[in-house]
Amino acid sequence: ARRVRVHHLRQAKERGERITMLTAYDAPTAALFDAAGIDTLLVGDSIGNTMLGHATTLPVTLDDMVRAGRAVASATRRAFVVVDLPFGTYESGPEQALASAVRVMKETGASAVKLEGGRRTAAQIRAITDAGIPVVGHLGYTPQAENSLGGPRVQGRGDDGAEELSQDALAVQEAGAVAVVLEMVPVEVAERITEFLQIPTIGIGAGTHVDGQVLVWTDMAGMTDWSPRFARRYAELGRALQQAAADFADEVRSGAFPAAEHSFGQ
Ligand code: KIV
Ligand code: NA
Repeated sequence: ARRVRVHHLRQAKERGERITMLTAYDAPTAALFDAAGIDTLLVGDSIGNTMLGHATTLPVTLDDMVRAGRAVASATRRAFVVVDLPFGTYESGPEQALASAVRVMKETGASAVKLEGGRRTAAQIRAITDAGIPVVGHLGYTPQAENSLGGPRVQGRGDDGAEELSQDALAVQEAGAVAVVLEMVPVEVAERITEFLQIPTIGIGAGTHVDGQVLVWTDMAGMTDWSPRFARRYAELGRALQQAAADFADEVRSGAFPAAEHSFGQ
C-alpha cells in the first residue's frame, strides 16, 4: 500500500472519508497498527503517562520523542507518522520550535510534527510549515497546559468558549497546519469548527461530527483498568497479558515449561 501523505488527508475530508489515528510508541505496535490499516500514527507525548511511568506529559523530553519516533517510523510502511513536540521544546518561539521540529525530522523518518495551542503558537506553526515540515495542531484540552487548565476538562463550552476555540482553530489553519486534533470539545463546537475549516479535524472526546478519530492505543486496547469516558475498549489486552504472564509463572514452577520441543539435544 502507498504511503499516506498530506494531500490524502485533505482528500479524505473532501470525500467525507473518516481518518483513523492511533498513538504508537514502539516498533512492534506500530507494525501491527500499520498492517491493520490505521491511516496515521501519532507518537504522542502521552508516552510519558502510558509508557515511561510519569504522571503527566510534562517531563517528556525531545530525546524520548526522537527514540520513539524512530522506532515507529521504521516499522511503518503506509501510515502517516506524526511526532509530538514535547513540553518545553517550542514555547520560547519560532526558532526553538523550528530547531526541535528539524531534529525530529532528521532523526526519525516521521512525516509531520504536532504541537499544542492556537493563537499562542501560531508563529511556531508558521515557522515549521515554512521550512517544509507539515504540522498538526492540537486544541481543546491540551495536556501540556494541564496545570493552568485545571486537569482534563472539556474546553470550548459556552458562547465565549466556543468563540475562543473557533479563533484558535482559524489561527492554526492560517498558520499552515495540515490537520488539527480537537480534544474534549463539545460535539456541536467540534462540528461547527469541522464545517468552517478546510483542513481535517481529528477528534478525541469531540463526538462524531469531525473528520477523523484518534485514541491512545492503551485505552483503545484495554491495557489498563481505567480508561477515559471518551475511549472505547476494543480489547482487554491488559487482562490477557497478565494471564499469559501468570500462566508462564505457573508452568515454570510446576516444571511444565519448557517441554521437549522447546529444548535442544546434544
Ligand atoms: O499525546 C497524545 O496521545 C495526544 C493525543 C491524545 C491526541 O496528543
Ligand atoms: Na500529545
